[in-house]
Amino acid sequence: MKQGNIIIKNASQLVTCSGHSAKKGEQMSDLSVIENGTVVITDGLITYVGKDADCPPLSDFPNHVIVEAEGKAVLPGFVDSHTHFIFGGYREEEFSWRMRGDSYMSIMEHGGGIHNTMTATRNASLEDLLESGRHRLDKMLAMGVTTVEGKSGYGMNKETELKQLEAMKALNKEHPVDIVSTFMGAHATPNEYKGRVDDFLDYMIKEVMPEVKDKNLAECCDIFCEKNVFDIEQSRRYLTAARDLGFKLKIHADEIVTLGGAELAAELKALSADHLLQASDKGIECLAGSNTVATLLPCTAFSLKEHYARGRHMIDMGCAVALATDLNPGSSFTNSIPLLFALACIYMQLSPEEAVTALTINGAAAIGKADKIGSIDVGKQGDLVILEYPSYKFLPYHIGMNIVEKVIKRGILFPSSNI
Ligand code: NIG
Ligand code: FE
Repeated sequence: MKQGNIIIKNASQLVTCSGHSAKKGEQMSDLSVIENGTVVITDGLITYVGKDADCPPLSDFPNHVIVEAEGKAVLPGFVDSHTHFIFGGYREEEFSWRMRGDSYMSIMEHGGGIHNTMTATRNASLEDLLESGRHRLDKMLAMGVTTVEGKSGYGMNKETELKQLEAMKALNKEHPVDIVSTFMGAHATPNEYKGRVDDFLDYMIKEVMPEVKDKNLAECCDIFCEKNVFDIEQSRRYLTAARDLGFKLKIHADEIVTLGGAELAAELKALSADHLLQASDKGIECLAGSNTVATLLPCTAFSLKEHYARGRHMIDMGCAVALATDLNPGSSFTNSIPLLFALACIYMQLSPEEAVTALTINGAAAIGKADKIGSIDVGKQGDLVILEYPSYKFLPYHIGMNIVEKVIKRGILFPSSNI
């Protein structure tokens, strides 16, 4: 991957989010802002962070592009830690049905939903997936996302699960946005296994998961732990097998029904428990007492017209909260970072500071990368965004607008308007 040399000079706010692990509870309010700050990136890595006045003379840094950032806020690149961005087809008809009152789960139980996208993804060629995936990554980068997590899970057979993961591997090599891949073979049970959920899980655990590992196609493993999808015992079995093979764990937990997915995530030391709209008080307590990040996806609640997860309460209880878009063709066909900021602050009562932490260092922790990305610290990857406004507080306030002016990925400059 290309690496560059660049100096971002004299930002009105250098929002460092300094740290190397997830921030919990009150710590989420500390953004470690440096006024009139400068960052130097050399060979793609951050080599200086501090006051512009204390920075060594520019003559010490030959071959560095200089960017003046007076009147602008500079932040770490955003980490979108939960998406399903590789898929075939769309589900615009189902969206209309939902607006008329059909529920997400009833559409899925009648063969639509995830099954609909499974068929379209099985029918898509690798080239189709690369083309649509590339287009989605371009849009992410323009909104300041420098690392994204992407899941398989629309194959539900070996061939298509591997095709999705191969697509992400190829895109990771060619595109500036870094991709962290997650194997989600247990997303739903396909028709060929109807009524034989445990047999399907056995197939995924014995036939598919080891090959994903051998081919080094994913770092994490995820499951849709939900009523009428995979129950707690099945999820524990699948995730334990994944852990034994060396995968990091993530769980779609307590989204529609309170099942105890949050508790299971803490028990298994998962990187994250995601959704959590229906997480119980006990589940939230378990997360607060663990290193598992509570990843909240308010665009999904918005799109499904569900109650939002209790983000304010989770932070007050001491959880580490991350925010992600959940981009997928069904429950959240958006990867809008501006919308995500607005929903998190307006409907989940996160402060702008907490929302920034949730999309940077805590997003990085939710994919096991807080040592490399998610903050502006010396030694970390040179991934930054420059806003067109002087304060990070404009992120939720300028509702639905992309205020990212420039993106820097490993020291290479991408003006947002050119992406
Ligand atoms: O995170 N809830 C399960 N999985 C996805 C939706 C997948 C789909 O509807 O295609 C989610 O919301
Ligand atoms: Fe999801």
